[in-house]
Amino acid sequence: MHVNLEFMNKTLIIGAAGQIGTELVLELRQRKGVQNVIAADLKEDCPKGLADGPYVQMDVLDRESVRSYIIENEIKEVYLLAALLSATAEKNPAFAWKLNMEGLFTILDLAKEGHISKIFWPSSIAVFGPTTPKVNTPQLTIMEPTTVYGISKQAGERWCEYYFNNYDVDVRSIRYPGLISYTSLPGGGTTDYAVDIFYQAKLGNNYSCFLSEDTALPMMYMKDAIRATIELMEAPKEQVKIRSAYNLSGCSFTPKEIAAEIKDQLSGFEISYAPDFRQQIADSWPGSIDDSEARNQWGWKEEFNLQMMVKTMLENVDVSMLDNA
Ligand code: NAD
Ligand code: SER
Repeated sequence: MHVNLEFMNKTLIIGAAGQIGTELVLELRQRKGVQNVIAADLKEDCPKGLADGPYVQMDVLDRESVRSYIIENEIKEVYLLAALLSATAEKNPAFAWKLNMEGLFTILDLAKEGHISKIFWPSSIAVFGPTTPKVNTPQLTIMEPTTVYGISKQAGERWCEYYFNNYDVDVRSIRYPGLISYTSLPGGGTTDYAVDIFYQAKLGNNYSCFLSEDTALPMMYMKDAIRATIELMEAPKEQVKIRSAYNLSGCSFTPKEIAAEIKDQLSGFEISYAPDFRQQIADSWPGSIDDSEARNQWGWKEEFNLQMMVKTMLENVDVSMLDNA
């Protein structure tokens, strides 16, 4: 089928310079055309990897500027990625709540007024808490998050569903597990040990892990997460029955298990354990996720298992990125 890119909906990704955005923008540009996908971030400089297309500095907390940019540029789809992640959020709870909630209302309201036709807003496994069943956590279950990050994601889910039910806002969301990637450094999450570990392994260093060896957490390789995001956004509206956020599963593992897989592929690697405040956050989250609703409703299926993910990371992690961090 011939697609006329000139008339395609303009898409804006806010928080585009982060771990997810740097890969999502490139994939969306391939599908929709470079000029139709605008990357926006608080960072003044456009990351090198996104320099092939439009980039705008934007503070999602500046409601009026965001509104006028979206209205004047006739943006029809928004991916709202700007947020403080779990570990960083615990250090500044009041600001985390502000950042994680206010931008969402700005975008939901623009959709309610008819300016935007579709929104993606990511939730997280952090919506669950210590009273949630830990193994194969169901879509619908007890949710009593104990982190400010989890509280903001749970509140965000409820508001997304509210705007869908009451104003027919087409907002879609996924409870991402911990995401693992090599194109940019991660931004302050509890699951980020599973990225840091590859940099130390490739430097030939031992890795001191901030979680204990048997802490199982749900994880996913970024390529799978980007594909899931796009598949959800492209699914027909009536197939998207959950308007809070979908459970999504890739591969679950413990620090001991990922270290063993790295050792198999890179001899001499060693890990030690020095749990810090992030242990308590991890202990409050599920170890594995039941994502059958995503599988049944819009056909989700992961491709990367632990072994493939470790191989890809070891082949591609560029330790010189640590110099610019
Ligand atoms: P990240 O920290 O790597 O990137 C966030 C980006 O937002 C950064 O580039 C930052 O500069 C930008 N930003 C911060 N404040 C902003 C503001 N006021 N205005 C505009 N931009 C601003 O985060 P990420 O890992 O890419 O995560 C993106 C989203 O996905 C977040 O909502 C996060 O909660 C969610 N999520 C991520 C993971 C994960 O493992 N990475 C897991 C679950 C959910
Ligand atoms: N990876 C994220 C974090 O650890 C989960 O949302 O904060």
